[in-house]
Amino acid sequence: MLVAPSLLSANFMKLGEEVKNICDSGADLLHIDVMDGHFVPNLTFGPVVLQGIMHYATKPLDIHLMVENVEFFVDLFAPLQPKYISVHFEEVKHLHRVISQIRKYGISPAVVLNPHTSEEGLKYILEDIDMVLLMSVNPGFGGQSFIPSVCEKVKNLKKLILDKNPNCLIEVDGGVNDKTIDKLKDSGVDIVVAGSYIFQQDNYKKAILSLR
Ligand code: DX5
Ligand code: ZN
Repeated sequence: MLVAPSLLSANFMKLGEEVKNICDSGADLLHIDVMDGHFVPNLTFGPVVLQGIMHYATKPLDIHLMVENVEFFVDLFAPLQPKYISVHFEEVKHLHRVISQIRKYGISPAVVLNPHTSEEGLKYILEDIDMVLLMSVNPGFGGQSFIPSVCEKVKNLKKLILDKNPNCLIEVDGGVNDKTIDKLKDSGVDIVVAGSYIFQQDNYKKAILSLR
């Protein structure tokens, strides 16, 4: 299982140092939560800050877009060449078109489902994407409680994936810590995102290891 620390919980006053430290501590991906103040009631990173982060990052970026006007933001962040760009199912009207837009940049497209959104809606798009990101909190903030119904969703999605596109990965995001991760055991999850759990500890390496 891969671990993608969410920079949302890092100390923004020493962001470069935090990025370097987390990359050196065993992070597989750097999860970047982009929020626009519209799709979610919070504002975070823009491309200028991310360009700064790139100077310190030695691991691939995993950009989670919590935004309206998704096509505009894909064009804005794609030049940074992240490994993944994830877009919310709830926001995108023409999902197939946006997935192609991401793919054209040589970036792996992923689709995100909010806690209430069923995996069934992905049936006809799974073959076109490289990852599904399942939210285990309502998007917008770090430090929220894990919503356990995601575990059943991971299992159901895994069945669909085995049928439609076995290479597609499942990532879970929100409220993941050394306790809640037990609930995900054997569910089929490939990548976990963890923000507050990792960054609240002094030893990031130990925190990442405890999740593995
Ligand atoms: C929530 C974000 C998450 C968040 C996770 O909108 O998508 O990535 O940073 O933070 P924790 O692990 O603290 O729930
Ligand atoms: Zn996220």
